[in-house]
Amino acid sequence: MAGCLVVATNSLRGMENCSVGLISPKADIINGVPMESQNPPAAFGKDMAASHDQRVAKPAPMREALHLFIRMVFGALPDNARMLCVGAGTGPELIYLAQAFPGWQYVAVDRSGAMLDVCRNRARENGVAERCTFHEGTFETLGEVEPFDAATSLLVSRFIFDTDARREFYAQIAQRLRPGGILVSADLATGASAPQYKSLYEVWERTMRYTGMPVLSIDRIGDKKSVLAPQAVRTIIASAGFEEPVQFFQALLIHACYAKRLGV
Ligand SMILES: C[S@@+](CC[C@H](N)C(=O)[O-])C[C@H]1O[C@@H](n2cnc3c(N)ncnc32)[C@H](O)[C@@H]1O
Repeated sequence: MAGCLVVATNSLRGMENCSVGLISPKADIINGVPMESQNPPAAFGKDMAASHDQRVAKPAPMREALHLFIRMVFGALPDNARMLCVGAGTGPELIYLAQAFPGWQYVAVDRSGAMLDVCRNRARENGVAERCTFHEGTFETLGEVEPFDAATSLLVSRFIFDTDARREFYAQIAQRLRPGGILVSADLATGASAPQYKSLYEVWERTMRYTGMPVLSIDRIGDKKSVLAPQAVRTIIASAGFEEPVQFFQALLIHACYAKRLGV
């Protein structure tokens, strides 16, 4: 996201599953405003940050399973590894991994100061804050940092609608990893085939309603060019300086893969 992070940042338009407020039971409307029209900083603002963890409590088992497998993906890295957590939000993956790998150092980056404040407080409460650096901003403002052994980008890249900007987002992560360093990326993706996707979407929609999360209609997800087929996402990552990504996890529309940075 450095010089190119501008691109990623400017491409953030929709914050569909993270917004808070009065949610229309029918569609992606919050407080009477279509979600794609919501200002991204407001969508991840103070109210949203304060209520975020409560709202994501019901789907916690999905998140916990993902975190467990990320731990396994990173399991062979050195005891003193450094991890970049892009779009840390309120810190669920940061705190889980900081507890799992007590010798590691972490840099958490988030463009929302409100989300990062909650993240910092939770890191303190969980006794991991002294191993974390918190950066409010983007790659553009992060500046020069020591190379990382690992990076996470969980539920962040789908807010980048333009394919080139999304490639640049991953390229910026690649630039900050050492060769062989591992990226874990998770985001919404469609099903592998059209009939499979339609069926899967129905279960996803039911799940979102059950958990109280905003629901985007399947047509609107289709309109949003950031919700791509899983293979298309992996192709973008591979073209950004990584080996062929390996999908290791799927929970309905959430797909996660890992990929090693190219180079020696
Ligand atoms: C959906 S939340 C996910 C938070 C966390 N990773 C999780 O899984 O719970 C996305 C977060 O990414 C942040 N974000 C989006 N684009 C970003 C960018 N280009 N640079 C830094 N943070 C970004 C948002 O502010 C928000 O906190």
